Amino acid sequence: MNNVKSDFPILDKKIRDKTITYLDSAASTQKPKKVIHSISEFLENSYENVHRGMNSLSIDATDLYEKSRDVAKSFINANSTNEIIFTRGATDSINIIANSLAEHLNKGDKIVVTELEHHSNYLPWMHLCKKLELELKIIPISKEGILSEDEIINNCDDTTKVLSLTHMSNVTGQILDLKKIKQEINKDIYLAVDGCQSIAHLNIDVKDLDCDFYSFSSHKLYGPSGIGIMYGKEDILNQLNPPTLGGGMINEVSSKDFSYAMLPNKFEPGTPSIEAAIGFKAAMEYLNSINYQDYFLKEKQLRSKLISALNDFEEIEIYGSNNNGNATSIVSFNIKNQNFNDIATFLDQYGIMIRGGHHCCQPFMKKLGIPGSCRVSFGIYNDINDIDHFVDSMKKTLKLLQ
Ligand SMILES: Cc1ncc(COP(=O)(O)O)c(C=O)c1O
Repeated sequence: MNNVKSDFPILDKKIRDKTITYLDSAASTQKPKKVIHSISEFLENSYENVHRGMNSLSIDATDLYEKSRDVAKSFINANSTNEIIFTRGATDSINIIANSLAEHLNKGDKIVVTELEHHSNYLPWMHLCKKLELELKIIPISKEGILSEDEIINNCDDTTKVLSLTHMSNVTGQILDLKKIKQEINKDIYLAVDGCQSIAHLNIDVKDLDCDFYSFSSHKLYGPSGIGIMYGKEDILNQLNPPTLGGGMINEVSSKDFSYAMLPNKFEPGTPSIEAAIGFKAAMEYLNSINYQDYFLKEKQLRSKLISALNDFEEIEIYGSNNNGNATSIVSFNIKNQNFNDIATFLDQYGIMIRGGHHCCQPFMKKLGIPGSCRVSFGIYNDINDIDHFVDSMKKTLKLLQ
């Protein structure tokens, strides 16, 4: 048994008398006790709105909220807490980046994305390109669903102003070598990274990656939903104006004008999700306390084991790379003449939670000529027993569906 499984109360629960086998962490991860308790503890003992309050509760709440920023800074090895902006999640972060960069882009400039992107890293850029008459270059995937780093590098030229890439695909688990891409492009292009999946499976060091932006959501990192981070290099964030205005992000307001607050407040209008920030802090501290890198290595091994077991199934099609070197934790597949949603629904009868659908990656699905796929994804609580149960239940499911 995986020794962190007992930290996750939901994994002890039964649905229709079946213990839960959770294989849907790419959609959202389950929460350890420490995260659950940190939120109720905070709401019971320390809740108040943050910033500017002079009373004890507000001072304590602000302190805890800012500590969460500090933990996040260390978690991704940012230079300063000024580079850590709390948002509503990765989708919100990427929209903020796209809309803030709008003022710095001109008709004819090129933005590069890929066919491997989640809609969240696709639509904000497509929309911006339509609005400002920019060129949107979409790097194609192969017919197997694999993205080539060289294609990305070769398509970045002097007109390219933004390159926005997923670090790890939520469909295939493919990991892009961002350092190689950044070094070989060697041009003055904003590199925005969608780190929504990679944050939960790789050790992230934004300084080492040398990216300009890095976006992720707490709920994929064992923390609560409703909060995420937009990392940006401090000198760049200082040059940008936030797209959303309101309380808490100003220095001064008159009847004629206003001035922005300093970073990071400039990008955080309105009351934030305070209790989510507290839970997010607990999630990152929890991961630090269990040496999460060791678990990340195990997840990679689980992916290889699952792929070799699935390859024994007749008429199976596995998408993306079978090579574990540049992929981890996620496997998407279809069985010929079977519907992915039927398979997911039948597996549920055995207590197995997987996902069937397009995984918010319709350009990927269209390229491969499929409406969707089954997706199995691992988290730190999965072990070989989960794969055995999954494979056994798949065999029973396919017999029933015959
Ligand atoms: C690669 C990737 N990017 C972006 C997102 C959007 O994340 P959120 O819904 O938390 O904003 C997801 C969520 O599935 C994702 O997998």
